[in-house]
Amino acid sequence: MAHLLQIDASPRGERSHSRRMTREFVEQWQQHHPNDTIAYRDVGRNPIPHLDEDWIAAAFSPPEQHTPQLQKALRLSDQLVDEFLAADIYVIGVPMYNFSVPSGFKAYIDQIVRIGRTVNIESSDAGKVYKPLVLGKKMYIIEALGDSGLQPGGRYETMNHLDPYLITVFGFMGITDITFIHVENDEYGENTLAESIANARQKITELVAA
Ligand SMILES: Cc1cc2nc3c(=O)[nH]c(=O)nc-3n(C[C@H](O)[C@H](O)[C@H](O)COP(=O)(O)O)c2cc1C
Repeated sequence: MAHLLQIDASPRGERSHSRRMTREFVEQWQQHHPNDTIAYRDVGRNPIPHLDEDWIAAAFSPPEQHTPQLQKALRLSDQLVDEFLAADIYVIGVPMYNFSVPSGFKAYIDQIVRIGRTVNIESSDAGKVYKPLVLGKKMYIIEALGDSGLQPGGRYETMNHLDPYLITVFGFMGITDITFIHVENDEYGENTLAESIANARQKITELVAA
């Protein structure tokens, strides 16, 4: 039995492709794995606060030195990290905004990258080294894009700071088993969008069945 965390990052509701695809993924997952448990976090429509001065002071100082004010500053982050660490599998729906993540999803990531909880920094003979703490997890990322040609080999490949960023930041915490699913061409609609949605659906069905 596994525990799955579904995260949606689009501010859009029914119009959102990434949101619709995570829903379909999880529905199919539940049919194949009826005993698995599901948690849900919607950072697109329930925004996560950006980091502030108290958060930074608290996150980079020993907990025994924390005043009640600093303890309060980390409370939500602690909850989000607990929720994140409890999962074995992640299904994340995220749009491309200006070639990267929406700011709301970046705020979420900033809250869960925590020294001592999701990553450690240790000394070695070669100097400081990063030690990821989120190990043995599987992640599926369903992206929605307005355009196409942003994947490897595409004409806009070098403008894609979304996939490389997600690989870097989740890999930094230890999650290296990441499968991407893309819905492209939202801006063009009609056949190109319909074809992309059909491809994404087929990939989801294959992945869940596997
Ligand atoms: C503020 C904003 C910025 C966007 N930037 C890009 C972009 O850089 N590249 C792209 O291909 N599409 C871009 N789009 C289009 C979205 O990626 C596309 O509409 C996608 O389907 C949104 O995800 P959703 O359907 O899950 O809401 C942008 C859309 C918005 C609203």
